[in-house]
Amino acid sequence: MANAPREQWSSRTGFVLAAVGSAVGLGNMWRFSYLTAEYGGAAFLVLYLGVTLMVGLPVMLAELTLGRGSQRSPVRALQHYGGAAWGPLGAVFVAAGFVILSYYSVIAGWTVRYALSALFSGFGGDTVARFNDVSVGWDAVGFHFAFMLATVWIVAGGVKGGIERTAIVLMPLLFLLVVGLAIYASRLPGAGPGYAYYLEADFDAILSWKVLTHAAGQAFFSLSLGMGAMLTYASYLGRDAHLPNESLIIAGADVGVAFLAGLVVFPLIFALGLSGAVIGTAGTEADIGNVGALFITLPGAFAEMGAAGRWVGTLFFAVLIVGALTSAISLLEVVVSAAMDGLGWGRTRAAWLSAAAMATLGIPAAFNIEVLDVMDKVASNLFLLGGALGLSLFVGWRMQDPVAEVTLGTDGVRWFFLWRMLLRFVVPAVLVFVLVQAVPDTLAAVAGLFGG
Ligand code: TRP
Repeated sequence: MANAPREQWSSRTGFVLAAVGSAVGLGNMWRFSYLTAEYGGAAFLVLYLGVTLMVGLPVMLAELTLGRGSQRSPVRALQHYGGAAWGPLGAVFVAAGFVILSYYSVIAGWTVRYALSALFSGFGGDTVARFNDVSVGWDAVGFHFAFMLATVWIVAGGVKGGIERTAIVLMPLLFLLVVGLAIYASRLPGAGPGYAYYLEADFDAILSWKVLTHAAGQAFFSLSLGMGAMLTYASYLGRDAHLPNESLIIAGADVGVAFLAGLVVFPLIFALGLSGAVIGTAGTEADIGNVGALFITLPGAFAEMGAAGRWVGTLFFAVLIVGALTSAISLLEVVVSAAMDGLGWGRTRAAWLSAAAMATLGIPAAFNIEVLDVMDKVASNLFLLGGALGLSLFVGWRMQDPVAEVTLGTDGVRWFFLWRMLLRFVVPAVLVFVLVQAVPDTLAAVAGLFGG
C-alpha cells in the first residue's frame, strides 16, 4: 500500500473544469449531431434531454457520492461500501476505461491529422480516399501513439499539476472556440436549412424504442458515466463540495456544448448543399457512418469554402482535439488510480504502463475500422450501460445511507429522497429496458466481426 496522502484538486473550479473536460469530447461534437439528425431532430433532442435529466443526473450524483465518500478508486470504493463481492463491478469499470481509451485515442489521432492538414495544406481532392488514408494503417497507428503520449504525459503530471492545469487552460478556450464557430456558422447561407434539419421535430420518431436506446447510450457516453470516471475525479474532492450543484453544472455544460456543436455542424453542411452526402454516408447503422459524417463531409465543406475553410477547419479540428484530450485524460486516470490503489504503484509507473498497454490494444482498431466500431459498441452498449445499472443498484439498494454522504456540503435534504427513488426504480428500469435492446445487437456485431 502506498501511504502518500491522497491528491486533491486545488479548487472547486479546477474540479468542475476537469469534469466538464471529461464529459465534453468527441461524443458531443459529431455523435450527438449525427444521431439527432438521424432520429428525428428535436424529437431526439427531447428524449436525450429527458434521459440526461431523469437517468444521467442521478447516476452522475451517485458516482460523485461514491467517489468523494470513499476517497478511493472505483474498485476500492465499491469494496469500501459494499464489501468484497462488489469489487468485480469496479473491475468492469476499469476494463471499460481500458477498451474505450484504446480506440478513442485512434479517433483522436485522426483529428490531429486533419487539423494539421487544415493548417498546412488545406483539404481538397477525394475526401473518402483521404479518410481511408488517414484512418487506416501505420500512419493511423503513429498518430494514435502520439495522442496517447500527450495524454499520459499530462496524467503523469498528477491531479493538480497535470489534469487540473490542463483543464483550466483548455476548457475556456474550447468554449470560446465553439461559440465563435457557432456565430460564424449562423451567417452562412445554409444556416436556415441547417437549423431546420437539426431542430425540426419528427414526432413519429419519438415514439420508437430504438430512439430511446440511442438517446440513452448517447447520454451516458457523453456524460462520461457508467465506468467510474466521475467517481474517480470526485475521489479527489474535499468534504465541502456541493455535489448536486457540481453535477448540474457538469451536465449543463455537456448538453450545452453538444447543442452548440449541432449549431456549427448543420449550417456548414447545408451551406454547400451537402446534406445528401451526409445522409448518404451517415445514414447507416454502423459507427463508420457516424465517423464519416464528420471526417468525410466536413472536410468536403471546408474545401469548398476556399481560404476561409482552412481557418474554420483548423479551428474546428482544434476544438475536437481539445475535447478529445481532456476526455482521454479522464479515461486514463480511471485505470491509473485503480493501479495506484490496488497494486500500490506510483503514479508515473501506473500511467506509463497502462498507457503502453492501451496503445497496444488500439493497434487493431487503427488497421481495421470495423474492429474500432465493434470496440465502441461493446464498450458503450454493454460496459457503460451495464456499469450504470450496477452503480444505480449499488447506491440505491446496497450502500448504507448514501443520502447522509450526498448531503455533506449542502444545506438540506429536500431533493435527496427523490434521488434515491430514481436510483432504486426509474434508472434501473430504463437501463434494463435499453440493455434488452442493446445486448443482442451488440453480440450480433461482435459475431459479424468474426464471421466475416
Ligand atoms: N464523454 C466523452 C465524450 O463525449 C468520452 C468519455 C470520457 C467517456 N470519459 C468517459 C465516456 C468515461 C464514457 C465513460 O467524448
